[in-house]
Amino acid sequence: MPGPYHIRVVNGGEFTCGGDERVLLAMERCGAGDIGVGCRGGGCGICRVKVIEGEYRTGKMSAAKVPESDRQAGYALACRLFPSGDLVIAVD
Ligand code: FES
Repeated sequence: MPGPYHIRVVNGGEFTCGGDERVLLAMERCGAGDIGVGCRGGGCGICRVKVIEGEYRTGKMSAAKVPESDRQAGYALACRLFPSGDLVIAVD
């Protein structure tokens, strides 16, 4: 996976994230704190964000916290979000 990529949180901070790194864990590694941290496992929904700009892929996420229609609208759980390019995200 290439990278690292640049991640910017709307009205928040910026940090870098590798292409095989989870955005939430990259945020913690960089000492940023804009996104809520919960289970880190794709289940609790605390880290839910909306990707405003950029390419990404996701791992397994709770269907209750991010239904399919939301996924198509760009919502994702940051602990299951991997950048494929620079991203702009908004905390949900
Ligand atoms: S921290 Fe719980 S779903 Fe991401």
